[in-house]
This record gives sequence, C-alpha cells and structure tokens, in this order.
Amino acid sequence: MDHLGLVAWPPDPIRTERLVLRESEARDRAAFIELLASPEVNTYLGGPRPRDELERETPEVPERWPGSFVVDLDGAMIGQILLRRATGHRRPAAVGKADLGYLFLPRAWGFGYAAEACAAALGWLAGVLPGEPVVLTTQTANTGSMRLAAKLGFVEVERFEAWGAEQWLGIRGLPGARHGAA
Ligand SMILES: CC(C)(COP(=O)(O)OP(=O)(O)OC[C@H]1O[C@@H](n2cnc3c(N)ncnc32)[C@H](O)[C@@H]1OP(=O)(O)O)[C@@H](O)C(=O)NCCC(=O)NCCS
Repeated sequence: MDHLGLVAWPPDPIRTERLVLRESEARDRAAFIELLASPEVNTYLGGPRPRDELERETPEVPERWPGSFVVDLDGAMIGQILLRRATGHRRPAAVGKADLGYLFLPRAWGFGYAAEACAAALGWLAGVLPGEPVVLTTQTANTGSMRLAAKLGFVEVERFEAWGAEQWLGIRGLPGARHGAA
C-alpha cells in the first residue's frame, strides 16, 4: 500500500451529523494503541499486537499521513479510516486503485458510525480525485465489514484465498456499478 498521491492534505475537518473526520493528533495515541491491541478489532486482521510493543513503538502522533482520518465523536477518537493506493495488491483488479480500510473501537460498533464516517471519507475522495473507483478487501467471515461494504455501495469483484481465509474484493464507482444509499 502507498499513499494516495497528489492530494491536498490535510483537508479541513469533515463534519457529519454526529462525527468529525480529521488528521491524527498526539491525544489520539492511546486510542490507536487500543485499536491495534484489541483482540476483537483484529479478529479478521491477523490478530492483535502486544500492548507493550505498541507502547514502545507508537510515535507521539500516530498515523499522520495523507488519507488517514481519525474519526472523532464528541472530542474523542473512536476509529480510523484509511484511504491508500493499492500498489502491491495481490489481485490484478485492485492494483493501483484507491483502497478503503476502517477500524473502529468495539464500544463504537452498532451505531452506524462506521457507515457515516466512511461515506464522508468517500465523499472527500470523490471531491479530490473525481471519478476514482475505490476497492475494499475484507474477509467474508467478517460479517460486520461485509454489511458495511454493501451499505457503502461496494459490489463484489471476486473472492479469493489469502492469509488462511476467504477474502472478498469489492469495488465502488466503476461506471455502471450500482451505488448504495450511503
Ligand atoms: C467493520 C466495522 C467498522 C463495522 O462497524 P459497525 O458499527 O458494525 O458498522 P456500521 O457503522 O455500519 O453500523 C451498523 C450497525 O449500527 C446499527 N445502527 C444503530 N444506530 C444506527 C444509526 N443511527 N444509523 C445507522 N446504523 C445504526 C445498525 O443497525 C447496524 O447494526 P447491525 O450490524 O446489528 O445490523 C467494525 O466491526 C470494526 O471496526 N471491525 C474491526 C475492524 C475490521 O474488521 N475492519 C475491516 C477491515 S477491511
């Protein structure tokens, strides 16, 4: 994965009905460590990382790069959205395309926050890179993520085996592809 390329960054904070999408700050560090150390968050992402290792290695301001949004609810980070360039993707249909990823703290699941935040991030992307299709890869066993992908308007390209599990590759924004309500 690479950065998106030439986009103006950071944008002004993006406000949705309930959330703000913004660049990361030092005060988000604990939430980033929580995201990566959480067994629940990482069930379908290769497993959690040891907390002591994360405490040692996480920079003072984590994940500050173009396309990395902190999702903020009432002043506190609840998740991260990642928009990157899938340069090294193992599936040819995804190589070089903009790629969406999302991680939310378990206490923020089940309220529609991920859908609200991803829709806003995709809206931002459509503004800075008009007409860019976006891909998304998720394990088919990750039912919450599969539901979110469908809600956002991603349609299946293919399923494939990788990292010891069945993966789903979806795309959004190809001419003729159906878009969801979000
Ligand atoms: C994938 C993930 C972001 C999904 O989070 P989520 O909270 O389930 O997703 P949504 O924002 O779409 O919320 C959907 C739920 O909120 C409910 N909801 C409650 N209030 C709502 C509202 N006001 N608006 C919309 N939905 C609402 C919906 O009914 C739905 O519940 P359901 O899943 O029981 O049907 C989350 O599980 C996660 O972070 N997982 C770990 C990381 C991961 O696996 N990422 C995928 C890597 S690609």
